[in-house]
Amino acid sequence: MCGIVGYIGYREAYPIVIKGLKRLEYRGYDSAGIMLFDGKELGISKTKGKVSDLEEKSKALASSKATIGMGHTRWATHGVPNDINSHPHVSNSGNLVIIHNGIIENYEPLKKELIKRGYTFTSDTDTEVLVNLIEDVKKKDNLKIGKAVQIALNQVVGAYAICVFDKEKPDEIVVARLGSPLAIGVGKDEFFVASDASPFIEYTSNAIYLEDEEMAIVRLNKPLKIRKIKDDSLVDPYVQELQMNLEQIEKGGYDHFMLKEIYEQPNVIKDTYRGRLLANEGIIKMAGVEDNIEKFLHAQRILIIACGTSWHAGLVAEYIFEEFTRIPVEVEYASEFRYRNPIIHQDDVVIAISQSGETADTLAAIKLAKEKGAFVFGVCNVVGSSISRETNAGAYTHAGPEIGVASTKAFTTQITVLTMIALRLAKAKGTLSNSDFHRYLQELEVIPEKVQEALETNDKAKEIAEKFKDASNCLYLGRGYNFPVALEGALKLKEISYIHAEGYPAAEMKHGPIALIDEQMPVVVIAPKQGHYDKVVSNIQEIKSRSGKIIAVVTKGDIQVKDLADHIIEIPETSDALSPLITTIPLQLLSYHIAVMRGCNVDQPRNLAKSVTVE
Ligand code: M6R
Repeated sequence: MCGIVGYIGYREAYPIVIKGLKRLEYRGYDSAGIMLFDGKELGISKTKGKVSDLEEKSKALASSKATIGMGHTRWATHGVPNDINSHPHVSNSGNLVIIHNGIIENYEPLKKELIKRGYTFTSDTDTEVLVNLIEDVKKKDNLKIGKAVQIALNQVVGAYAICVFDKEKPDEIVVARLGSPLAIGVGKDEFFVASDASPFIEYTSNAIYLEDEEMAIVRLNKPLKIRKIKDDSLVDPYVQELQMNLEQIEKGGYDHFMLKEIYEQPNVIKDTYRGRLLANEGIIKMAGVEDNIEKFLHAQRILIIACGTSWHAGLVAEYIFEEFTRIPVEVEYASEFRYRNPIIHQDDVVIAISQSGETADTLAAIKLAKEKGAFVFGVCNVVGSSISRETNAGAYTHAGPEIGVASTKAFTTQITVLTMIALRLAKAKGTLSNSDFHRYLQELEVIPEKVQEALETNDKAKEIAEKFKDASNCLYLGRGYNFPVALEGALKLKEISYIHAEGYPAAEMKHGPIALIDEQMPVVVIAPKQGHYDKVVSNIQEIKSRSGKIIAVVTKGDIQVKDLADHIIEIPETSDALSPLITTIPLQLLSYHIAVMRGCNVDQPRNLAKSVTVE
């Protein structure tokens, strides 16, 4: 839940580390810090706040010629965000420096033991305990830093991606991972270390992703050796060619990543189905599904596990799978699933959905499902992520890096992948008629054009945002396939604008939420022509009779709702099952504009981080 970056080579480290931290800021942004070593002195600067605050505070370091450096951007777990708790942390001797993403769960007994042995602590963090534990191990047996790190890590319980620097070994950085991602960029005469590859994308396209329980000593002019932390055995480094490019991780002229990512949807949905959906031939092929088709076809039940927006995509998939394949589906919050001794049968298929592929609750739920014998299929965006490796098989969404904390393109590409899986299974099972199957393929193929058209609602969304930006509450209603879209619309609004919002099945409104409706209450109703249109119209009438302010998302040319609603947003027509891919677009735009107008930090909303790698 933090971002780490390290550099060792021949270039000046300061700009590389600072730029890298800015790219990793989506992982946490309540404090930041940097360490440089110029061959003589350690230069350390850290501060509460963002990387820009760190830059302001570190002006003295900016001209450093140091060619070794490390930096950290934090999302606080142990200890409030302040200067002292920020990373890097330094050991008592002043020789060892650490940056850490993760949690050391047994830090309290370790700390007590170290205090008995004379160590002192200035911060409230688990990380300061770890660096002193390493120092203690190193001193006790007069070990080299690599060995000391290894022995210390065998004593800790928890999760980590760490970089450790020892002043006595200034040509190396020791790195290790368990449960938090860590990539090593391999350049000519230089190495980069980071939580993902974005900090080094312009320097090298060769990367090694450490696996859990692996460590490496990144040493100048020496080949990289990777070892298992537990038994010291050597592992062959697998160097991957990166698929990411610089343009993908920059704002490209947009004011915010979120807006850029909303506008990328037509293209990334195409990327998602490219080579997999052959509409004219009537074929859907996805390697991960084909290789395991028997498992899917014999599934008595599909269990979907995910968190947040990915959970909403799972809810949409529940409607689609049941309708297309007639396989019963249950959708679970990964955080609940993992702690409730769930009943899992051998012939259940579990689908885990995650943009980042690093969400701790989803990862733990996958492990549990596997232990109970289930086959687990992953739908992930980040290639090589923990979840993509932990699952038995999977399909990537190919949405490209999603940097805005509010998920947008991840949602629509997840739905695209899940729809393709459902269609593939429906064809094999014969649960959809041939003509329906072909119709859906054709419709899915033109979804990117319809999303493009839906993006033209931007001005309208902005105009409506102006009217409702000062609201304190907002209700989102939808039925059937668009009930999860109502939940997603509400989540988008609350997480970036801090307006309290709730999503409800439209018919459920009369069982409680209707009491909230008065002339102050904006109610966003998703009412496309297909689906339960007439029923939704009745719900709109109920809101109107109670003076609620109705903002309706309707199919182009709609007359009935237009007469009732205060504001309408018109979107192109598509079938009910595919409509979430379209109806969600104006809701993303509406939240975006409201948040901007309220002066909120759209890409980095308070208290949040892009990937939640803690429970
Ligand atoms: O990376 P994941 O898809 O596993 O993340 C799950 C949630 O943390 C994520 O969707 C979160 O709810 C977003 N901030 C929503 O916009």
